[in-house]
Amino acid sequence: MILSLISYALQSINNNNTNSDIYSYFKVKTPNFDHIPTTLPIHDVLLVIRTSKYTQRSRMPVILKTWFQFSPDTTHITTNGDAKYVHQFLSKQYHDHVHSTTCKQAHSIRDLCCHSASEFQIYFENKHKYRWLCRFDDDQYVNVPLLIHYLKQFSPDTQPLYIGKPSMQEPKRGHGIDFWFATYGGGVCFSRSLLKMIRNDVQPNNNFMEGCISSNYPDDTHIAYILRVNYNINLTVANDFHHHIERNLFTNLTSPSNIDQAITLGFKGNNVPRFVPLVKNDVFHMQTLHCLLYPDANCTRLLRILINKFYEDKKS
Ligand SMILES: *[C@@H]1O[C@H](CO)[C@@H](O)[C@H](O)[C@H]1NC(C)=O
Ligand SMILES: *[C@@H]1O[C@H](CO)[C@@H](O)[C@H](O)[C@H]1NC(C)=O
Ligand SMILES: *[C@@H]1O[C@H](CO)[C@@H](O)[C@H](O)[C@H]1NC(C)=O
Ligand SMILES: *[C@@H]1O[C@H](CO)[C@@H](O)[C@H](O)[C@H]1NC(C)=O
Repeated sequence: MILSLISYALQSINNNNTNSDIYSYFKVKTPNFDHIPTTLPIHDVLLVIRTSKYTQRSRMPVILKTWFQFSPDTTHITTNGDAKYVHQFLSKQYHDHVHSTTCKQAHSIRDLCCHSASEFQIYFENKHKYRWLCRFDDDQYVNVPLLIHYLKQFSPDTQPLYIGKPSMQEPKRGHGIDFWFATYGGGVCFSRSLLKMIRNDVQPNNNFMEGCISSNYPDDTHIAYILRVNYNINLTVANDFHHHIERNLFTNLTSPSNIDQAITLGFKGNNVPRFVPLVKNDVFHMQTLHCLLYPDANCTRLLRILINKFYEDKKS
């Protein structure tokens, strides 16, 4: 009953979308509510989003509408697809933030490491500007204000830091050692001091790709392996980073890792926030999530219409 109500209400809202707000009492715009109400302090964190020719069409538009907007000046995108497609959704001033690689699309170790190398390259091309590189996938939401705040506790110039969230219960064992790795699907940050150290190890050349292949580890595991073997650096675990592999993330309502404390979230299939989506084609429900965390005039209007409609429908 409730479910059919919800889906009915959504259908009508979606069909009529933003033009008819017969269901809203609020016809005037709420003042001072039109921009993301987060003034980020000046920061030196380079954010790199990895997308691909097959996923950029479905996944990038919603990212560019939501968390990209927190810090467009320091957010870059790497893709093996057509940069022109992503450009459509970006104002001209950010077009040079889209980097096209020649990496292949298969999920082979070589291809993954090729994508990885391009993320590091974006950092090294801009290294004078940034003291952190944080890299993400295109199936993630990043609460950038929380990320910046979290990183403030560290000293990236002196501490060689590799930060993220493991996906396994135990360290990886192989090649004679044990080490923890952070799954790239939860987002990973590297400090400047660490990046300086590993510069030669992660150049986009055969050395890096062959290294991945000979360790037989995908990119996220291989990075952790290099750090451990060559530099005795271990993972710093960030509990508020979350990846698509965490099964209970959106279903366990008693878990202390609340969605509003999450620094990163990863999505997959039904593993998405359990909100009724406010807009059509809300990939991973990311726009709805963003609205609930950082409401602006447009999305609160949709919320009002929805709540009002529930009321009217229930009465009749
Ligand atoms: C769209 O809005 C109009 C009123 O503007 C209403 O008559 C119509 O039923 C709505 N469509 C749906 C599918 O709810
Ligand atoms: C709200 O919607 C209008 C019209 O669609 C758009 O021009 C504006 O950029 C939107 N504002 C925000 C903060 O998304
Ligand atoms: C990293 O962890 C290993 C054990 O897994 C430990 O032997 C090593 O000392 C640690 N390195 C540092 C720098 O803490
Ligand atoms: C939910 O989270 C709580 C707190 O972390 C934990 O104790 C409990 O086992 C979790 N429940 C399930 C079904 O995973």
